[in-house]
Amino acid sequence: MKKKPKYKRILLKLSGEAMRGKREFGIDPEFISYLASEIAEAHKLGVQIAVVTGGGNIFRGVAGSKRGMDEATAHYMGMLATIFNAMALQDALEQKGLVVRLQTAIEMKQIAENFIRKKAIRHMEKGRIVVLGGGTGLPFITTDTGAAMRGLELGCDAVFKATKVDGVYSDDPMKNPKAKKLENLTLKEAFQNEKITILDKAAVELCMRNDLHIVVFNIHKKGALKKALMGEKIGTVIR
Ligand code: GTP
Repeated sequence: MKKKPKYKRILLKLSGEAMRGKREFGIDPEFISYLASEIAEAHKLGVQIAVVTGGGNIFRGVAGSKRGMDEATAHYMGMLATIFNAMALQDALEQKGLVVRLQTAIEMKQIAENFIRKKAIRHMEKGRIVVLGGGTGLPFITTDTGAAMRGLELGCDAVFKATKVDGVYSDDPMKNPKAKKLENLTLKEAFQNEKITILDKAAVELCMRNDLHIVVFNIHKKGALKKALMGEKIGTVIR
């Protein structure tokens, strides 16, 4: 009998960093096309997918406010950056032949539907990929937290956090060569351990309180998303 995927519906969080590919700034269409292929492969398994995009490759709200901007304004600019990425991803997915619905948390009638929870769920049930731009539409909330919120309200089985590292490490693997990879972790440990910063604490807390699992995996490894969905030992599962 054909093995079934471990997850029925997921919320995939793609950071702005992932959109940048090898570039220092902005969008890398080649890399986004690769991301779209990875999502297409995962979708072929029959998994329902909603994607939340970050925006750090274009504008970081936190960085803007550190340089003297009004913080809320900087955050709103960051939200617009996530919509740029969401549009680029929608385009790349559609070019692969997938049916996509773009919804934004900030009203942008000419280019996207408004975020409507039940509509997003219906789209996924009909086999469409839902791309969510604009975070939550509220300042002072990270896209990680926004992803956890959307994951919960859309009834997802897990938040899949795509990163450039292989999972959660005991310390920052880019800074500490002795950092060890953790294959399994509880949500409580991820919340309490200050060295675990792969997702911000507000996002982890939300997942912990609602028992929403988090899977951290390296999106740069071809096939990793599909393998993680099939329950293979890829990345770190936080549950
Ligand atoms: P069903 O209700 O399941 O048939 O979903 P649907 O998305 O196919 O139908 P609908 O008629 O709502 O949408 C048709 C197309 O218009 C889709 O590509 C939607 O994303 C798009 N669309 C719907 N509402 C809006 C909107 O408010 N703004 C923009 N820009 N596009 C929209």
